[in-house]
Amino acid sequence: MNFSFVSDEISTSGALVVTVFEGSEFSSTAERLDKSTGGALRRGVESNRFKGKSGDLLEILAPSGLSNTRVILAGLGKLSELKITDIENLGGKVYKDLAAKGEKEVSVIMDGLKVGSSDDSTLASHVSFGALLRTYKFDTYKTAKKSDNASKLESFTVNCTDAVSAKACFEDLEKVSDGVFFTRQLVSEPPNRLYPETFAAQAKELEALGVKVTVLNEKEITDLGMNALYAVGMGSDKESKVVIMEWNGAPGGAEEKPLAFVGKGVTFDTGGISLKPAAGMEDMKFDMGGAGTVFGLMKALAGRKAKVNVVGACGLAENMPAGNAQRPGDIVTSYSGKTIEVLNTDAEGRLVLADVLSYTQEKFKPRLVIDLATLTGAIIVALGNDIAGIFSNNDKISDQLTAAGNAVDERVWRLPLADCYDKLLDCDAADMKNIGGRAAGSITAAQFLQRFIENGTPWVHIDIAGVAWSTKDKPTAAKGATGFGVRLLDRFVADNYEA
Ligand code: BES
Ligand code: ZN
Ligand code: ZN
Repeated sequence: MNFSFVSDEISTSGALVVTVFEGSEFSSTAERLDKSTGGALRRGVESNRFKGKSGDLLEILAPSGLSNTRVILAGLGKLSELKITDIENLGGKVYKDLAAKGEKEVSVIMDGLKVGSSDDSTLASHVSFGALLRTYKFDTYKTAKKSDNASKLESFTVNCTDAVSAKACFEDLEKVSDGVFFTRQLVSEPPNRLYPETFAAQAKELEALGVKVTVLNEKEITDLGMNALYAVGMGSDKESKVVIMEWNGAPGGAEEKPLAFVGKGVTFDTGGISLKPAAGMEDMKFDMGGAGTVFGLMKALAGRKAKVNVVGACGLAENMPAGNAQRPGDIVTSYSGKTIEVLNTDAEGRLVLADVLSYTQEKFKPRLVIDLATLTGAIIVALGNDIAGIFSNNDKISDQLTAAGNAVDERVWRLPLADCYDKLLDCDAADMKNIGGRAAGSITAAQFLQRFIENGTPWVHIDIAGVAWSTKDKPTAAKGATGFGVRLLDRFVADNYEA
């Protein structure tokens, strides 16, 4: 789809999208179109329950007096409550509706709309971003692609005051969408196609953007002493990998300490010898979602040449039951030297992360570490499928993340860490065990990770088990992999850490 921004006259072909506030209060263009159609828009509104509520769309087909195919009235609700993400959602909904109907062109008219400090040109780029995000479809393995025959929505134009600044803003958002799509694609890939080796190979794509990529193989992993991570992949015929991605965009050069993002990349989680039940096990292809998000984030940041140094570090392994798999009761010595009694082989994500967290801190001395993982089913019990759980030793960074999440509508909610949870991991036979019991499962998982955070390094753990995959369509994403976390962290970086 081709996106463009114009500040001159309104298109006389294709669909026109004009805005209406709550109480059926028409924008100036809606008013003008109503006049030139002999009141067709008002009549349409009156013969429907459309009141201009935020998110509602009303279609007036082939209105007389206009050569356009249709006019879409887009409800914006109350101006005082309107958010920039509502504008993105509007773009996504318009795209989805019109693409399904075989429309070829659409023009959205912003009419000088302002939301907070965002002018209509910024909003123009965001309505386009919303539409763009909605275009992603996982159809790699469909041999007859519907879209090959059907006509496609070809052009998405937005009328706004300053077309040049809208285009400039959109160019950065396009890079963010490249990252989101990369994550969605990786997370959607089936586990017979995407396993540690093929996953790691995908990082090579980032080299073209100036990212330095290092892949550690199983020999290097064991030579380094990453035995906790290695143990997770022992039962698999696929070699485990660690992928390190470095982007140095800070004006101060490579000397500046990086931000570190660490991802859990379990390409399939059967549970291992502590085998999961069969029903729903196929979902465990998205157990590499944390790593998938780190890959997408690196693509977004490098793509838009973010002025910051960042390292992305991911532990990739497949958790299988087999004769050479780790057993419940095994004791492993992690990279940090701390020993772990593995009482449940299904609590494997924390083992993978422990070693990558230690290695990343030691090698890169990052100014902060944020890890992402589809870590616990318990986070879904606590927070459901719309909000991710965060855990942190640092109030400021948690607040920054919460604000970024609210801004991009990838929300996070902080849960506590405390000694009373940490001690549930104490163990007779080793330094710690890898499960804390039934209670507070997401928190004990986070406490486990915190045992691998050294010298108070500012750290946040994001449990994305509930949000990495959606069984329902959303305005800016079809059901399936959401790409949750890419926009959140891109925004977190942009707002707080770029020079
Ligand atoms: N990958 C799962 C967590 C998960 C569950 C992700 C549902 C996405 C959706 C993780 O490795 C796991 O199995 N966790 C166990 C931990 C338990 C054994 C302490 C869980 O949540 O049951
Ligand atoms: Zn598991
Ligand atoms: Zn897992």
